[in-house]
Amino acid sequence: MNERLVIQPHRHADRTPAIPTFAEYQRLYRLSLDAPDHFWAQRAEQLTWFHRWHTVFDSDYEETDMGWFLGGRLNACYNCVDRHLNQRGDQTAVIWAQDEPGQYQRITYRQLKHHVARVANVLREHGVRKGDRVIVYLPMIPELIYTMLACARIGAVHSVVFGGFSSEAIRDRILDCGARLVVTANEGLRGGRRLPLKEAVDRAVDGLDQVATVLVVRRTDLEPPMRPGRDWWLDEECHKQRSTCSIEWMGAEDPLFILYTSGSTGKPKGVLHTTGGYLVFASYSHQVVFDYRDGDIYFCAADCGWITGHSYIVYGPLANGATTVLFESTPVFPDAGRYWQIVDDLQVNIFYTAPTAIRALVRAGDEYLARSSRESLRTLGTVGEPINPDTWLWYYDKVGRGRCNVVDTWWQTETGGILIAPLPGVTPMKPGSATLPFFGVRPLLVDDDGRELDGPAAGNLCLRHSWPGQARTIHGAHHRFHETYFSRFPGLYFTGDGCRRDEDGYYWITGRVDDVINVAGHRLGTAEIESALVAHEAVTEAAVVGFPHEIKGQGIFAYVILDRHYEATDAHELQGLLKEQVRHVIGPIATPDAILVAPGLPKTRSGKIMRRILRQIAAGEYRDLGDVTTLAEPDVVETLVESHRTLSAAARQD
Ligand code: WT7
Repeated sequence: MNERLVIQPHRHADRTPAIPTFAEYQRLYRLSLDAPDHFWAQRAEQLTWFHRWHTVFDSDYEETDMGWFLGGRLNACYNCVDRHLNQRGDQTAVIWAQDEPGQYQRITYRQLKHHVARVANVLREHGVRKGDRVIVYLPMIPELIYTMLACARIGAVHSVVFGGFSSEAIRDRILDCGARLVVTANEGLRGGRRLPLKEAVDRAVDGLDQVATVLVVRRTDLEPPMRPGRDWWLDEECHKQRSTCSIEWMGAEDPLFILYTSGSTGKPKGVLHTTGGYLVFASYSHQVVFDYRDGDIYFCAADCGWITGHSYIVYGPLANGATTVLFESTPVFPDAGRYWQIVDDLQVNIFYTAPTAIRALVRAGDEYLARSSRESLRTLGTVGEPINPDTWLWYYDKVGRGRCNVVDTWWQTETGGILIAPLPGVTPMKPGSATLPFFGVRPLLVDDDGRELDGPAAGNLCLRHSWPGQARTIHGAHHRFHETYFSRFPGLYFTGDGCRRDEDGYYWITGRVDDVINVAGHRLGTAEIESALVAHEAVTEAAVVGFPHEIKGQGIFAYVILDRHYEATDAHELQGLLKEQVRHVIGPIATPDAILVAPGLPKTRSGKIMRRILRQIAAGEYRDLGDVTTLAEPDVVETLVESHRTLSAAARQD
């Protein structure tokens, strides 16, 4: 693939992008670095503040403490809902595309306000106050948005847990953030299948006195067991409430939400975002990176259980008064034409998804595109992992019919919003590159010793200075925040990603350089999966690595060493048991693709596992394993290669 390929930006009839030219991007970018306070103050003025800030930015470097818009007071829910009522009360705020194809429900800004206010009153009625944490375990239904905004309205801190996580994972999060209230649904519906959400929450809170209240949304006709005094139907509770609810005016630095994400060590970390800077950054980046305009129909196909859903389904678009699509189903239900059906049905102008979904659709074949025109589309976005140039070109040529701008957006849970991306209609595109930094963002590459690399180079991607959307801490573990992001390269925020910069200054993300793997756009820590495996009686030691996977980007490969006393069951059965074990502890999204029973692991004499060798074997790259003579037991490598050969041969047979 030719990495020198440059595709010129497209201009659409009678529309000049908000940033009209590339030269203007460069000018504004410089300004945003030279005068960040001035630049961000101007952006912040687009929101509605109850009280203006006195200081745009302040930081205490020693304490790894950043603050934006200090002294300012605002409310995220007010900015996403109430302030639009005069101008656009009857405009559609949310279009809910239900699991059942062709079923849509439109919710206007006025209706949104009433629903949100009722849920907010219910939360207050059940004792939730400013600063309290609320766990949200809901499918992609309007009540998810109502609940997030209701929390924001009364100053409660939501923590949305993705539906692919298990009861144990929910319980860990409840305990870590100290939530006393959980919002869930009787069931979810996805791809025609029912997801037993309430059942999972029941198991999660079983014996946990801390959780006093479980609110249950009625999505299907299932009547789950309801524990009196603890479980309440949300619809019944809402009927008792008024559709107005007073607003808690929050300090700009008051927490808005916590979102758990995986790192290279330990359990998932509760990344904390605050109110003012986050909302300024999410709304401004949504407007500029997608070239969002009044009246556009905007469809981000992510799940609200991830940061993409927070920033670019809920907060960014609604703060901008957009019409945002909330999609309950999957890209392949009932078939691989589902996205394009929605695009035509709703006349979507901006569409945003992940490379893993695009790859699955490429694989399904172009015939699924034939049934739709997709003429309404103008901007196509991608996020979550590096997109291979072939996939990029399919998206551009086939989906966008060569007339849409493709924006490959690089960012992270911790960054709150997009940091590297082209501006549609402005930045020349290179398939496979996230291109150039967004306003106020200073990426830099450093070598392993922390030396900054100039010009075209490859290294560790870091960021200098703060931006308003930056996470402020890890809930309850500020030292971990400092250690994880600011200690590897002192003075810099380390992203954990490897990256190359070309001669035009374009950034090409190459993937994680730490022990984090990216499976179908989901971030997982190998250490987490290893501890889930070791928790099984059969396993004494485990090492997990990623390997290249055609659709998912990376697959999960687990090497396990069995306990001597374990009664060997049949290999197939053992695989099943261990996969079930991981599903139980973390959830289906972390299920290993392959498990290899190993006689030992390649370790240095000091006992460190040589993961590089494990990664190479898992990828089937047996040649060039490098020098293995320094290993404690060099023979182990040969045995692993043999076992891997056998395992892959068996997999091909299946
Ligand atoms: C990691 C962050 C940001 C929302 C979704 C994921 C990878 C993300 C890109 C991209 C290459 C990307 C990075 C990053 N990543 N976007 N456009 N190109 N890689 O959020 O779960 O916090 O994961 O996703 O490795 O560090 P997340």
